[in-house]
Amino acid sequence: MVGTWRSSRVAVLYGGVSDEREVSIKTGEAFHFALLSLGYKKVEMVDATGEGLLKLASNPPDVALLALHGGLGENGSVQGMLECLKVPYTGSGVHGCATAMNKDTAKSLFRMAGLPTPDWQVLDRARVEQILSQPDIDAQVPCVVKPVTSGSSVGVTLVREADQYYGALEAAMRCPGPVMIEALIEGRELTVGLMDGQVMGIIEIAPDRNFYDYKAKYQDPKTNYLMPAPIPDRLQQEIGRLVQEANRVLGCRGVVRADLMLDAEDRPWLLEVNTTPGMTETSLVPKLARGSGIEFEQFTEMMLDNARLDADLQYG
Ligand SMILES: Nc1ncnc2c1ncn2[C@@H]1O[C@H](COP(=O)(O)OP(=O)(O)O)[C@@H](O)[C@H]1O
Ligand SMILES: [Mg+2]
Repeated sequence: MVGTWRSSRVAVLYGGVSDEREVSIKTGEAFHFALLSLGYKKVEMVDATGEGLLKLASNPPDVALLALHGGLGENGSVQGMLECLKVPYTGSGVHGCATAMNKDTAKSLFRMAGLPTPDWQVLDRARVEQILSQPDIDAQVPCVVKPVTSGSSVGVTLVREADQYYGALEAAMRCPGPVMIEALIEGRELTVGLMDGQVMGIIEIAPDRNFYDYKAKYQDPKTNYLMPAPIPDRLQQEIGRLVQEANRVLGCRGVVRADLMLDAEDRPWLLEVNTTPGMTETSLVPKLARGSGIEFEQFTEMMLDNARLDADLQYG
């Protein structure tokens, strides 16, 4: 039913404590405006810090709209808390969030399912410290160095020259968790939105910079977005199926956005699946929704109507 939660207490969980707090605040504010303009009367904005979550737990809302990017808000932790409180929430469940957020786990599942993802290895933090203390070890370049569990391109470096390798390891070590070294795919970048397993569309991203880094994502007006991505129909269908399969093997639900590279031979390579993609008025997934005639307010309500508990899906 459309507008199931219109007269309920809706909590928008935003902000939080991850590296992506600033973006999350923007997503939360966009949801807030959307709900108010739809006539929702009982909207509560919850900054998902320890204090904010404690307050929420002491007086739980009827439903939670999640605007949390990165860290505890996207890795299943906040979702687990909401499961315990029996508050239905938007997006993927505990398991889907946890597997998607860890790029090593996600890529292992892609590989097991026969889905193309660039070769990679993971170095634990002690091993990186050791490499940094003996910088004569041969670097495998070109490669991409990235944190296993971060987002928004924070700590990601495309390494094309051997002398960039150690700086790249240091940058990734500023984020929590292990470090991934991934084969670099030279080519075009694509991002694909899915809603409840259905392909919303494909966008090509053409940054004006070295790659789609934090600045290109949020600050550079010269980043070019081509929608729909100018690729042949057959390739679009192949990519759509690939992303649907990736979503399925990770066990995600609701709205997700998958990032891919297309190499010089037009072969797609999966990089990751985001379970809480950016949702500001100018973000990519809302652009895809608008492209199919769904305005941001309506899109927000569709997500809210889809709020679920793992518990209901598994045992209900
Ligand atoms: N293997 C790769 N080959 C080429 N570019 C890459 C690769 N991995 C990441 N990138 C670039 O870095 C960006 C961020 O990497 P991604 O794996 O999507 O992590 P994040 O979770 O930070 O978005 C991508 O959007 C892309 O521009
Ligand atoms: Mg990404």
